[in-house]
Amino acid sequence: MPRVYLSPPHLAGRELDYLRDAIDSNWVAPLGPHVDAFEAELAELTGVPNALALSSGTAALHLALVVLGIGRGDEVACASLTFSASANPIRFVGAMPVFVDASADTWTIDPELLRRALAERPQIRAVIAVDLYGQCCDYDELHAVCAERGVTLVQDAAESLGATYLGGPAGAQGDLAAFSFNGNKLITTSGGGMLVSPNGEWIAHARKLSTQAREPAPHYEHTEIGFNYRLSNLLAAVGRAQLGVLSERVQARRRINRRYRELLADAPGISFMPEAGYGEGNCWLTCLLVDPAAAGTDRESIRLALEAEDIESRPLWKPMHMQPVYRDAPVYGGEVSAGLFERGLCLPSGSALTDDDQRRVVETLLATRA
Ligand SMILES: Cc1ncc(COP(=O)(O)O)c(C=O)c1O
Repeated sequence: MPRVYLSPPHLAGRELDYLRDAIDSNWVAPLGPHVDAFEAELAELTGVPNALALSSGTAALHLALVVLGIGRGDEVACASLTFSASANPIRFVGAMPVFVDASADTWTIDPELLRRALAERPQIRAVIAVDLYGQCCDYDELHAVCAERGVTLVQDAAESLGATYLGGPAGAQGDLAAFSFNGNKLITTSGGGMLVSPNGEWIAHARKLSTQAREPAPHYEHTEIGFNYRLSNLLAAVGRAQLGVLSERVQARRRINRRYRELLADAPGISFMPEAGYGEGNCWLTCLLVDPAAAGTDRESIRLALEAEDIESRPLWKPMHMQPVYRDAPVYGGEVSAGLFERGLCLPSGSALTDDDQRRVVETLLATRA
């Protein structure tokens, strides 16, 4: 039986048509009609008027901090429970991350702890809020907290494309927002990202920085340090085909999530990531918690049993405040995300997962003994 992956790419079928067009037209460069169209289509989908296609979500977060002018001596508050790419750009610009624990209700950044961090640390100039596993943060709360101190809210929407917050599309909530089209995301360009913002000046500046910060001159003239972060026209072609099936992909992942909840409803000691009432997650990854006392097994025994059946699963993100590389960074709270990391597991959630494979995942999980 073929290996069951956590979240493999799921092609739409039209990628080759778009790619052929890109190649036939000789737009084989980090610019071109598919890049422009991909940006316009994502802007339309999110309702955010300015979009910049980039080589990764990490690049999008990096440029967000650069256009905000954040650097040495500044601090940036960041969710602790996330992938390292949410926090690493803070170090790229020479600033210091201040990690903030998750709320037990949503697993996203805790607004009260954030309020405390902002009150105590005047050096914090921006907040990176992360939409975890496809579930948006509570942005009304976060905007209120950020407004008290006048700090900028950056939305890490790498995992939440296609989710909603109060009926609006994910990515429309931050002062700036970053998407990822990595191979494991809801839709993919193999690798890629997008930075969006209602602020056209920030995006225009990021656009210039993303192509080596070239000044308008016939020769290469530079007044600031730039990057080579633009998305290839070939990859944007793939992205347009993928974007065309986004809502189907969200529906498929939500259905897989519902089915896991149904099939494991009676399993003792197993619970799922809470669903926030303010929006619909895209269910990028279905995550569960294992209570060893009630389940008669633990997270790691389940992971190993699945692996023995050639089924990929993964512990929840190891919180950033527990990462050796960030041992010097200040942290507010930390126990909630530490507990989630200890007990949490991400299950195979790809939109092409078959009912049979999903049943095999559940049967293996239920048969696990510590
Ligand atoms: C929360 C989060 N932020 C940032 C990233 C970085 O995106 P990329 O891999 O496109 O650089 C990812 C995923 O990879 C992510 O899950």
